[in-house]
Amino acid sequence: MTSTHGFSKGLQFHTQASLIFINSPTMAEASIPPVENLTISDTVAEAEFSQRVLIRSILGRSDGGAGLAGKTLKVGGWVKKGREQGKGSFAFLELNDGSCPANLQLIIYSDVAPLGQFTPTGTCLHVEGVLQMPPEDKQGKQSIELKVLKVLDVGAVDPAKYPLPKTRLTLEFLRDYVHLRPRTNTIAAIARIRNALAYATHTFFQKHGFLYVHTPIITTSDCEGAGEMFQVTTLINEAEKIEKELIKSPPPTQEDVELAKNVVKEKGEIVAKLKSDKAGKPVITAAVAELTKAKEALSKVEERFKLKPGIPKKEDGKVDYGQDFFARQAFLTVSGQLQVETFACALSSVYTFGPTFRAEHSHTSRHLAEFWMVEPEIAFADIEDDMKCAEAYVRFLCQWLLDNCLDDMEFMVEKFDKNAIKRLQMVASTNFVRLSYTEAVTILEEAVAKGHKFENKVEWGIDLASEHEKYLTETKFESPVIVYNYPKGIKAFYMKVNADNKTVAAMDVLVPKVGELIGGSQREENYEVIKERILEMGLPLEPYEWYLDLRRYGTVKHSGFGLGFERMILFATGIDNIRDVIPFPRYPGRADL
Ligand code: 4AD
Ligand code: MG
Repeated sequence: MTSTHGFSKGLQFHTQASLIFINSPTMAEASIPPVENLTISDTVAEAEFSQRVLIRSILGRSDGGAGLAGKTLKVGGWVKKGREQGKGSFAFLELNDGSCPANLQLIIYSDVAPLGQFTPTGTCLHVEGVLQMPPEDKQGKQSIELKVLKVLDVGAVDPAKYPLPKTRLTLEFLRDYVHLRPRTNTIAAIARIRNALAYATHTFFQKHGFLYVHTPIITTSDCEGAGEMFQVTTLINEAEKIEKELIKSPPPTQEDVELAKNVVKEKGEIVAKLKSDKAGKPVITAAVAELTKAKEALSKVEERFKLKPGIPKKEDGKVDYGQDFFARQAFLTVSGQLQVETFACALSSVYTFGPTFRAEHSHTSRHLAEFWMVEPEIAFADIEDDMKCAEAYVRFLCQWLLDNCLDDMEFMVEKFDKNAIKRLQMVASTNFVRLSYTEAVTILEEAVAKGHKFENKVEWGIDLASEHEKYLTETKFESPVIVYNYPKGIKAFYMKVNADNKTVAAMDVLVPKVGELIGGSQREENYEVIKERILEMGLPLEPYEWYLDLRRYGTVKHSGFGLGFERMILFATGIDNIRDVIPFPRYPGRADL
């Protein structure tokens, strides 16, 4: 019997083949081009879309750039550290342009330009210079330095006012400067890791034949049914506009309306009279024009008469969403799953990757109000295929960072989490533990029996708390764990009900440090069953009619999952707070910029 290890019975990958894939040359081909391939000509070198060379293309070479000594080129970046030396005759400047964690050392003499303006941290410099080997006694630290010949541009900084001095700043402090924090080593390294993970995500799914689908940000259906949606409405700004307008020019009274009606009546009578008197055409035309004007004035008065301050309400006192922008209630999406299913049920293997929004009031280090999710959806795939895909994807991401972001990962190890690289290596090379929910609860109960203390009670039926997830991945197995077949009472309506009628074919991937990284399931493809589940959960059927159509017509077994992109970055980097791994964090009370 051949065992198939693809993500669907239709797509057959053998275990070995998919393992080879992780390290195969095909992956290297798709990765970031090696810095040796970036062009640096013999004279002045220029980056393709800018008047300068990226520092990565100098320092990222296998010889640390030593082989480029003697070349003249332009670089641009921001000064990390600057110091004048030789009694002010020259200065050393550590320049970083964000292309890699390393700084290029510049040496600039006072006969080129006055030095004081260049040394403050944060100064932007665009310079031309010649690469040279540093003096022998300094060669340990710098493989190459740039002797500045010409200063092309300076973006000066007043050090007394610059909010990010060179002293080490806490990540919490930096959250008050989201517009400047990309200039710090940590936020820059996270940004590069985040970028690499996005690239790896597209590479993985594209290589496995998945189609990228853009699902809507504005939606009228609640995917998770958890009531945590942000509403999208123009009713409030409309109401404010009307209130302002009514203050400026008060609304017409009933008498004003009657008056305008009378004018229309009078003008109408004049026209009728002129016609019956067989008056001349020009006179009648003029009277008709007067009548039209009066009618227009009346309709304006009537329209303004109807203007009421406040949100429009229906007769039953409920908000009249018929008057809202979309003529119905609309929200920001909590997940692209339901919509991406429409494409999976036509194009087989698809994925969506975009921002999602949850109005949860959780002030934890793992929740954001706006976060990014990667959601593949596979037709002809069951929960087993789903778990296989989730595991292969996460392992691929880990291997990708080891192959493409080692310098940034080394920075993370040095500054934040000494185990970060080991963890990536472990995950890239280990099979994930798989446990049914029932087995997981038994393990937790055994831990309690042996004296382990949990704050939350352990019993069959509970939603696993973060401390339980941590126990399984960090204490018990020290590895990622996939828990599957959860009680149906704690999971969403769309999950496939198992034969026991007590559990659903759901799976969560739990990882050390973070807990839940992925949530997924086989979807209920039976029309009657899913309809019952929607009603059972007290959700209205109407918004889901289109979703039910997927089961009414040509239904197909299908499965998918959602990976919390920021949680993946937390897991990879070892950073403690999710607010520091997204460029612009949104959480209760905060939405800067
Ligand atoms: O488990 P969740 O709620 O699953 C879904 O939304 C499914 N519709 C996905 C699918 O099957 N296509 O969310 C998926 C993942 C979680 O495992 C977690 O990693 C992340 O999204 N997540 C959050 N990340 C940051 N902040 C939040 N508030 C998050 N809520 C969920
Ligand atoms: Mg979940």
